[in-house]
Amino acid sequence: MDEPVDYGNWVPKNLLYSAIVLIIILIIFSLFPLLLILRIILWVLSVVLLFACCYLFLLYYHFTVNNKELQYKIWDFVVQKLPWNGKGKVLDVGTGAGALAIRVAKHYPHSKIYGIDSWGKMWNYSKRMCEKNAEIEGVSSRTSFQKTSARKLPFNDEEFDAIVSNFVFHEVRNTKDKTKAIKEAFRVLKKGGSFALQDIFKKKRKFGTIETLISNFKKWGVEEVNYEYIIDEIEFPKILRAEFSSAILFYGIK
Ligand SMILES: C[S@@+](CC[C@H](N)C(=O)[O-])C[C@H]1O[C@@H](n2cnc3c(N)ncnc32)[C@H](O)[C@@H]1O
Repeated sequence: MDEPVDYGNWVPKNLLYSAIVLIIILIIFSLFPLLLILRIILWVLSVVLLFACCYLFLLYYHFTVNNKELQYKIWDFVVQKLPWNGKGKVLDVGTGAGALAIRVAKHYPHSKIYGIDSWGKMWNYSKRMCEKNAEIEGVSSRTSFQKTSARKLPFNDEEFDAIVSNFVFHEVRNTKDKTKAIKEAFRVLKKGGSFALQDIFKKKRKFGTIETLISNFKKWGVEEVNYEYIIDEIEFPKILRAEFSSAILFYGIK
C-alpha cells in the first residue's frame, strides 16, 4: 500500500501534551490541604486551562489534514492567487512539512521549488519529513529543502521568480519587527517576479497597519499589490472565523 503523506498539524502536539500535564498538576495540588483561597485559585486556573485545552483540541481536529480538507483549501488559495506563468524558481518561506511547496510543484510542472524553514522544537516538522512527502507526491526531483532562518536567507538578491509563504512571518522569533522577514523575502525575488504571502497581516501589533505594510512593500520594490481576507474566500467553521479574521493573502508583482 502507498505510504500516506504526513503534513503534520499547525497545532503542535507538544503544546497539547504540556497543557494536559499542567491541568493534571494543578488538580493534584488543589487536593492538598492548602488554604481554601489557594485551592480556589488552583481550581479556577484548572478550569480556564481546560477550556483553552478544549479549544486547542478543536483547532487540532480542524487542522488535521484530510479532515474536511480545510488545510488543503488554505494552501491552494495561495497557489491559485499566485500571478505566475510557472516557469523558474520558487521559494516557500517557512515550509513546515513542505505542503505548500509540494502543491506549487504539482501545480507548475516546469518549476523548481525551494523550501526553507528553521524547523525549531515547537512543531514536529523537519527537512526529512518534507523530502519524504515530496517523494510520495512524485515531485522530489523538483523540490529542495534547506534549514535556515527566514530572517536571513542564504540566497542572492533577485534569485527567485516567485515567492510564497503561509502563516510564517508572525512566528519569526529572532526579530521583534516581523516585517524584516518580509523585506528579506522580497530581496530574493526578481524584479517582475510574483508573490503570494498569507499570514495574520491584520494584527497591527505584529505588522502595523495594512496601509503602512503596503507602503513598505512599495519601498522594497513591489510594483503591484492586491490583498484578500481569507475568511471571505474560504469557508471556515464558525468557531474558527474569529481566529482567522486577521488572516490576509497579499499577492502581486515586484
Ligand atoms: C504555522 S507553521 C506553517 C508551516 C507551513 N507554511 C504550512 O503552511 O503548513 C509556521 C512555520 O514557520 C516556521 N518558522 C518559524 N520561525 C521561522 C524562521 N525564523 N525561519 C524560518 N521558518 C520559521 C516554523 O518552523 C513552522 O514550520
